Amino acid sequence: MDATRDFDGVAANTYTGPPTLTDTQVLEVCREGYLMLPGIVSEDVNARTLAYMAEATSHEPSAIILEDWFREGVLLAPEVAGAVRSLLGAGFGLPVLMSSHRADRPLEAQGWHHDADSVFGQELNYLQVFYYPQDTPDEMGPTEVLPRSHIAETRRDIDWTGGVSTASPPGTVFITMYPILHRRAKATGTGVRHLLKYNYWRTTSPRRDWVIEPDFDLRGANYGGHHQAWWIARMFYWLCGDAERFSTVGGQGWPYSGSQQNQIGPSYGFPGPPRPDQQG
Ligand SMILES: [Fe+2]
Repeated sequence: MDATRDFDGVAANTYTGPPTLTDTQVLEVCREGYLMLPGIVSEDVNARTLAYMAEATSHEPSAIILEDWFREGVLLAPEVAGAVRSLLGAGFGLPVLMSSHRADRPLEAQGWHHDADSVFGQELNYLQVFYYPQDTPDEMGPTEVLPRSHIAETRRDIDWTGGVSTASPPGTVFITMYPILHRRAKATGTGVRHLLKYNYWRTTSPRRDWVIEPDFDLRGANYGGHHQAWWIARMFYWLCGDAERFSTVGGQGWPYSGSQQNQIGPSYGFPGPPRPDQQG
């Protein structure tokens, strides 16, 4: 499929190009709540971004979205555009607001939080994406994310453990389910950490038109553990354009799959594959 673009005004700031994620990868993002794309932005674009940010005084320098080099090199870098296209469908909307999380180190860790205005649910209509233009090792206080925490609102005062660092080489982009719990980790070094954050938007109904794996096992796939599997399976079926055929039986029924290896037969409750007219 050829890429088509329309930057004719903000209202038409959408993009359609080829999807790059497979069934397995789409399900992994649904389940874990984030996807790392390490070092995919070029050295040149990272340098231009850092030069731009050195002059930017606003905490929301949205005009950078209008720079061709930034749109092509970051927002629509092939790995990013392909992943966002897989998750949000054809004609996804590009960001209209840029947040700059400049951090002057050293700093204590932030508290774990869901960003404001998180809408929890199994319909995936928006994504929150982060970009590190510079090398961001642990001493620079990279964001930590808590995998599988995008399902439901969680009290902020819990002292969570088990977070995953997004420490990364320069030019890393990571895609998250907006409601995922996250925080800035403790920074022990000196200097400035730059982090840009922005959202993409769905503009079309969901359908299974990413890279379909012919032998993808919808019945046996890993939808997560207790209290997660039914939620994540329904999100995956919603993305396949077939949420209405999904029903949760509960108990040991599909989609809970943690004990499949000890079962004497397949789980009850599998609704079958998504409708063929919603695929491809
Ligand atoms: Fe945040």
